[in-house]
Amino acid sequence: MSHAGLVERIRNREARLTVIGQGYVGLPLAVEFARAGFPVTGLDTDLDRVTALNAGRSCSPDVESEDLATLLRQGRYEATSDFSVLEQSEAVLICVPTPLRKSKDPDISFVVAAAEQAAARFRPGQLVILESTTYPGTTEELLLSLFEGRQARVGVNLFLAFSPERIDPGNATFKVRDIPKVVGGVTPECAHLAAFLYRQIITKVVEVSSPKVAELAKLYENVFRNVNIALANEFALMCQRLGVSTREVIDAAATKPFGFMPFYPGPGIGGHCIPVDPLYLAWKMRLNGYEARFIALADEINRAMPRHVVELVTEALNRRARCVNAARILALGVAYKRGVGDMRESPALEIVAKLRDRGAEVSYADPYVPSIVLDGAVLKAVAVTDEELRATDCALILADHPEFDYRRIVEAAALVVDTRNATWGIPAPADRILRL
Ligand SMILES: NC(=O)c1ccc[n+]([C@@H]2O[C@H](COP(=O)([O-])OP(=O)(O)OC[C@H]3O[C@@H](n4cnc5c(N)ncnc54)[C@H](O)[C@@H]3O)[C@@H](O)[C@H]2O)c1
Repeated sequence: MSHAGLVERIRNREARLTVIGQGYVGLPLAVEFARAGFPVTGLDTDLDRVTALNAGRSCSPDVESEDLATLLRQGRYEATSDFSVLEQSEAVLICVPTPLRKSKDPDISFVVAAAEQAAARFRPGQLVILESTTYPGTTEELLLSLFEGRQARVGVNLFLAFSPERIDPGNATFKVRDIPKVVGGVTPECAHLAAFLYRQIITKVVEVSSPKVAELAKLYENVFRNVNIALANEFALMCQRLGVSTREVIDAAATKPFGFMPFYPGPGIGGHCIPVDPLYLAWKMRLNGYEARFIALADEINRAMPRHVVELVTEALNRRARCVNAARILALGVAYKRGVGDMRESPALEIVAKLRDRGAEVSYADPYVPSIVLDGAVLKAVAVTDEELRATDCALILADHPEFDYRRIVEAAALVVDTRNATWGIPAPADRILRL
C-alpha cells in the first residue's frame, strides 16, 4: 500500500488497526479508535484477558464493559492472541509493559517481543507506532533495526514513529481524546502519517522533530512529577521536625497564582510509571557517562517513605502507650493511588510487610482490591465497619479512596495515621491523629 493509499484509508476510517497490549493503555486507545469507526483488533498474550475482553468484560477503569460489548456486537473491536492478525494490519500500535529488572535497569523484553512479532509479519506500507514509555533511542536504535532487513525502507514503505501515552487511569476529566498527543517520526513522512492517524480521535496532536524528542518529553514529564513528589515528601519530613502542618504550608504556598504548582507528600510512589520511568533515563545517561543526580536523589527520598510511615505509626502508638508489636492496625487503601485498584509498585505492600515484621496484626480495607498476597499468604480485604474501626489500635490511611467515610474513621478509630491528608479539616484531638 502506498503512503497516499493509507492516508485515504485512514481518512475513510477503513484502515485496519492492531493495538498490541490491551492493558491500562492499549485498551482505552483501541476502544477510542473503534468508536471512531476503525476496525480494531486488540492483541494480547494474556489468554484470560483476551477471553474476558471478547466476553465484553473491560479490564480498564477508563472503558465501560457496556461500551466494549457494543463495539464487539458492531464488529468494530475484537481481541485476539493470534499474531497472524498483524499480516492484515495497516497500522500497529505497541502498548506493552516497560518495567524494571531486579537490578533496576530497563526491561524492554516486552517491547522487543512485540516488535519482533510485528517485524516478522511486516506488510509494506505499514505504520508502526510505539507508545510504551522507554529510554531515548529505543525507536530509532532498536525498533528500526528489527524491521530493517525485511524489505522495510523507513519513510518509504515503513512508517515508524514514537508517541508516548499520557493516560491517567481513572481520571474522569482527561480521557484519551482530551490529552494532547506528542508524535515523533523517524522521517517527516512517518511523523505526518502517525499524527494524521491520531487526529482522527484526539483533539490536539503535536508533531516533534524526532522519536527521541517524543521519548524524552514523556520521560521529562514523569521525572518532573517524581522529583516534585520527592520534594513534597522531604518537605513533610522537615515540617514534621518543625511541628508544622505540611498541608497548611503547601496550601498557603499554592495561593500564589503563578510560578507554583502544588505537590503533596504520601507514603511513597507507586504505579507502573512514576517510580519506573525516570530510571530508564538514568540508565541511558549512565551509558553516556552521565549520572542523573536529581533522579537518583528523588528516587532515594521516595523509596525511603514507606520506612518513614512505619516510624510514624510506631511513634503515634508510642504516644498512646502502645507498641507496634501485637497492635491491631487497619490499613485503609492499598492501591498505589486514589480511586484505582492498581497495585503495581504500591508502597502499601512494603508498609504492611514492615509492620507485620514488627509484630503488628495488620488487616486492610480497599474497595478496589479484594485480596493481596504477602509472603505467599493471601490477605482478604475487610469492610470498614464501626466495629472494625473500634477494634483497631491504629487506622492507617495509605490511599485516599473516595469511598471511605473519613469523618466516621476519625470518630471511631482510637488513632489515625493519615499519609494522604484525607482527614484534613476534620477536627480531632492532636494525640489521636497524625498527618504526614
Ligand atoms: N498505566 C499507566 O498509567 C500508563 C500511562 C502512560 C504510559 N504507560 C506506559 O504504557 C505501557 C503499557 O502500560 P500498561 O499500564 O498499559 O501495562 P499493562 O500491564 O496494563 O498492559 C500491558 C498488556 O500488554 C500485554 N503484553 C505483554 N507482552 C505482550 C506481547 N509481547 N504481545 C502482546 N501483548 C503483550 C500484557 O498481557 C498486558 O495485557 C508501559 O510502557 C507504560 O509505562 C502506562
